[in-house]
Parts: sequence; structure tokens; C-alpha cells
Amino acid sequence: MLTDAYNRTIRDLRISLTDRCNFRCFYCLPHGEPAWARKEKLLNYEEIAFLAEVFVELGIRKIRLTGGEPLVRRDVSVLVRMLAELKPELSDIALTTNGYDFVRHADDLKEAGLDRVTFSVDTLRRERFEKITGVDALEPVLASIETAKRIGLEPVKVNAVIVRGRNEDEVVELAAFAREHSVSMRFIEYMPLDAGHGWRREDVVSGREIRKAISEVFPIEAASARASSTSQSYRFVDGSPGEIGIIASVTEMFCGACSRIRLTADGQIRTCLFSKVEHDLAGPLRNGAAADEIAELIRNAVAQKEAQHYINEPDFVQPERTMSFIGG
Ligand code: GTP
Ligand code: 5AD
Ligand code: SF4
Repeated sequence: MLTDAYNRTIRDLRISLTDRCNFRCFYCLPHGEPAWARKEKLLNYEEIAFLAEVFVELGIRKIRLTGGEPLVRRDVSVLVRMLAELKPELSDIALTTNGYDFVRHADDLKEAGLDRVTFSVDTLRRERFEKITGVDALEPVLASIETAKRIGLEPVKVNAVIVRGRNEDEVVELAAFAREHSVSMRFIEYMPLDAGHGWRREDVVSGREIRKAISEVFPIEAASARASSTSQSYRFVDGSPGEIGIIASVTEMFCGACSRIRLTADGQIRTCLFSKVEHDLAGPLRNGAAADEIAELIRNAVAQKEAQHYINEPDFVQPERTMSFIGG
């Protein structure tokens, strides 16, 4: 088992496949070209699978593939198939995608052993979608959600980052979408992880505000969730299908129960979204380190996992790396 200095068991690994993305969400990537990591720095699938096996031997039970946009990498289903060989110890393989190109890959991913998928949809209005993401792509993203449901990649989760003045007026419509499409709609507080460093505390719409807006129209009640979950879950009191999740990373932080670590696309362990240090696995791996040496490096990194994030402290400094690199 992987346990950190605060007695938290680490069971979830998020692997970023690339820092690249075909969207330019304002809360993540700035408009214009960021400096992408050079291709040869990215771990290849054999390297990722090798590391994943070591992680699973150490006690990781859930792997989520993220990015950037993971599906801009070629043949992600090939990697999923390699990871699926780690089942049943590995009990869950999930994907977080913007959904732009998911329909084309859906069957292959499912067949390869993908268990679940989470999409990002911050608005249901076409023009606003383009404003937020830089791409006129609401339609293909909604088609992706339907495809995921149809082929049984369930429960389908949809993430919406709510930002003051941008989409806070759509909270109820997004909740209605959860009911109509029988998905879990998760409202996320805006975090200081944007490449433009434009985050302002006033722009955070709190989980509490979101809960209030929804319950005025659709009464909701708490449902049970895993203690380590990022989101608080709610069901509709009237028995409607669908679910609401609130991810209040800023105002109701859940670091005390965190079970996550991350592997960046260039092979660095990050023990927190807001880590100031990274632990290099790519270097040792490429220098021929054996599995037990890698395991030791992982244990060491986990031992240094931060107690919590410090967004709410006066001397908080935003990390250099953005969500697209860290692996949202
Ligand atoms: P499940 O596997 O379904 O439990 O999903 P998840 O909530 O772990 O993953 P998802 O990719 O859907 O993450 C949802 C959001 O939670 C992310 O976009 C982040 O905003 C936030 N989040 C994820 N991990 C962390 C974390 O370690 N710390 C904080 N503060 N927020 C996180
Ligand atoms: N604050 C909160 N969530 C963010 N995401 C990206 N950037 C931010 C941010 N600054 C979310 C995306 C996606 C997930 C991978 O991370 O909306 O759902
Ligand atoms: Fe791309 Fe996701 Fe960042 Fe949006 S949040 S720019 S979809 S990596």
C-alpha cells in the first residue's frame, strides 16, 4: 500500500498523455500557442505501461488518463489495452476528455477495456461554448456524451467549471441537462491553474452558491460518495435520473481525504495539483532503472505529498504548470 506522511492511502493515479490540446479554454490555456513539450520528452506507451505496472503493484487501483486532451495522442486504445492487462488489481480505467474527437474512438476504447469517461462541458449555448473554448464544437461534444452512454461507458460524468460572469447564469440549465440525459453533472470551482494567471478570487463561484441556485429549482439531497472523492454528490429529491456533483476545491477543500497522485506527460510525479516540486521518473526509467528502483522513487515521492493546497493563504503562489500539463 502507498501511504503518505498524513496517513492517506494513495489509490488513484492520473496520467497525463500530452500537454497539447485542441481547445483553448480561458481557465486553462491562454489564447495563442503555449510552449508544448517536445515530443521526445513525452513518455511512450511502453514506458507508461511499465510505470503503471509498478504503481499497481504498490497499490494504485484506479487510473485516469488525462491531458491536455488525451485523444490528440495517437491510438490511445493501444495504451488502454496495455493497462487493461493490469486488471483485476487495477479496478478502474477512466478517461477525462473534452469530447471533441471521442465519437471516432469510442468503440475502440471500450473494446480495449476503458471503464468510464468524463467530459468537460461548461455551457450548452453554442456561441458561448466557442467563447469559452475557442472552438465551435458544442455539437460533437454532445454527440460524444450520447455515444458514451449508448456503448455503456457509465456512469457518464460531465464537468463544468463555473466562473463568475461567464456561465454562472447557466447552473440550473446544466442541472436540467443532468436530468434529461441521465448523467452526473459536476460543478467545479475555478482554481488558480490557468496559464494566463488571470484567476481572481472574485471570479470563483462557490459550491454553496451553486447548490443554492440548483435547489431553488430542483430540490436535491446528499447521496453517498467515497470519502476521497473530489465531488460531493446529490440526487434529485423528485427521483429524476441524473446526479449533481459539487467540486468545491477552493472554498471547501478536500485535501484531507486526497487519494491522488499524478504523472505528467513528461514523466514527473506530482503529488498535488499545486506541488512546487516534481519527482522525476522519466530520467531514471530511460537510464535503465529496474522496477524496484522505480518503486522506491514512487514511495519517496508519496512520502513527500503535501498536506493540502494553500490557495486560501495570503502568500499563495500559482504553480507554473497549468492544468493542461498537470493532468486535470
Ligand atoms: P472520479 O474518478 O469519477 O472520481 O473523477 P475525479 O473527480 O477524480 O476526476 P475528474 O477528472 O473528473 O476531476 C474533476 C475535477 O476535480 C478536476 O477537473 C479538478 O478540477 C478537480 N480535481 C481533481 N483532482 C484534484 C485534486 O487532487 N485536488 C483538487 N483540489 N482538485 C482536484
Ligand atoms: N479550475 C478548475 N477546473 C479546471 N479544469 C481545467 N482548468 C481548471 C481550472 N483552472 C478542469 C476542466 C476539466 C478538467 C480536466 O479540469 O474543466 O473538466
Ligand atoms: Fe484543453 Fe481541458 Fe485545458 Fe480546456 S481544460 S484547454 S479542454 S486541457
